[in-house]
Amino acid sequence: MKKILFIIGSLREKSFNRQLAQEAMQIIGNRAQVTELDYSDLPLLNQDIEQPEPTAVTRIRQTVAAADALWFFTPEYNFSYPGHVKNLLDWLSRPVIPMDYATPTCSNGKRVALSGAGGKAATANCRAKLTELLTFIKADVLAEQTGIAVPAEAWGTDVLVLTQEQKEQLKSQANALLG
Ligand SMILES: Cc1cc2nc3c(=O)[nH]c(=O)nc-3n(C[C@H](O)[C@H](O)[C@H](O)COP(=O)(O)O)c2cc1C
Repeated sequence: MKKILFIIGSLREKSFNRQLAQEAMQIIGNRAQVTELDYSDLPLLNQDIEQPEPTAVTRIRQTVAAADALWFFTPEYNFSYPGHVKNLLDWLSRPVIPMDYATPTCSNGKRVALSGAGGKAATANCRAKLTELLTFIKADVLAEQTGIAVPAEAWGTDVLVLTQEQKEQLKSQANALLG
């Protein structure tokens, strides 16, 4: 069974992106093994602490390496991706063996799906920039993406209700990722 690793780009407790991920998890059902990456203990990248590899980095790299695909659910911050998402990808992009740029990193060749819930642009700018970054670090980004413009009323309830069309888009993306 395929292993799909979810990466939530929001640290907010009632995150709409987390709710979107939960919807995607239901859609995948028992067609794959889904887990969420916990990167809350990942330090800020500092080349002084790259070696020996911090414990959190080892665990995260192993978890990513073991996954068949990654699925990001991330908000857009100021026309781009949040800083902690960049920090995670910076760590994943670095050589596992110091100065060894020949051995593939754990992000190299990884299949990646992108989704996001945000403002009016439905995270289009974030996903475009994330595609650019992931392509640069040699990940294989799926063309099919899901963007959700969070409806105004959701801010009052903290509940993201998807339309039928949005659910269909998420289903189609899940099928593309699993296919
Ligand atoms: C620092 C910051 C910058 C933001 N910039 C944007 C933006 O450029 N575009 C956008 O659609 N939403 C922007 N937002 C609003 C987020 O999309 C919104 O808060 C979203 O619900 C966050 O996702 P979450 O519910 O998963 O935490 C920004 C929010 C923050 C905190």
